[in-house]
Amino acid sequence: MTKKRVGILISGRGSNMAALIEAARDANYPAEIALVISNRPEAPGLARAHEAGVATAVIDHTAFGADRGAFERALHAKLLQHRIDLVCLAGFMRRLTPWFVSQWNGRMLNIHPSLLPQFKGLDTHRRVLETGATRHGATVHFVVADVDAGPIVAQDSVPVLAGDTEATLARRVLEVEHRIYPLALRDLALGRASLASSTRHAG
Ligand code: GRF
Repeated sequence: MTKKRVGILISGRGSNMAALIEAARDANYPAEIALVISNRPEAPGLARAHEAGVATAVIDHTAFGADRGAFERALHAKLLQHRIDLVCLAGFMRRLTPWFVSQWNGRMLNIHPSLLPQFKGLDTHRRVLETGATRHGATVHFVVADVDAGPIVAQDSVPVLAGDTEATLARRVLEVEHRIYPLALRDLALGRASLASSTRHAG
């Protein structure tokens, strides 16, 4: 089995990144985490990746000013340099242009903390509590030009419990995230999930 080489893009803590690294330790897992890139030099996830023996890189978006294209060309070049096959966004807090998305069309996943297509965007846990929804969850989806849209690869839900705060709800959802992201990446690496064959859409 030739393992797919995966690049993970992060901006912060990197707990989903860590879950992917952990899953990929299994000799039978069809992908290896070959590179972690952060757009923020201070992202705690960088140290976690380094400790796990994964190559890391920082491409600081602030160095490119308003030139989003130049930032993305640098990102893309780094991914190519490491012969990356698949990209996982894991708490990567930059919007990507249609150009970058098209370079990785069908080969890039994102994880979002809601039951898409509900609650796209930020602050999902607060908004779920405000609306009184009884279920919440997480979704892994292909990245398309529209934010938090694109065919769903994996999704699972948890109950919203009486007395939940943003923090308790986030913790419950994060457990789902850490479980479904490795499953979704496995399906993509094995060719069981594809942009063309996915019928469910998150938007
Ligand atoms: C996660 O909740 C993820 O769904 C969202 O950002 C958060 C990142 O957390 N996109 P972590 O950096 O993976 O710990």
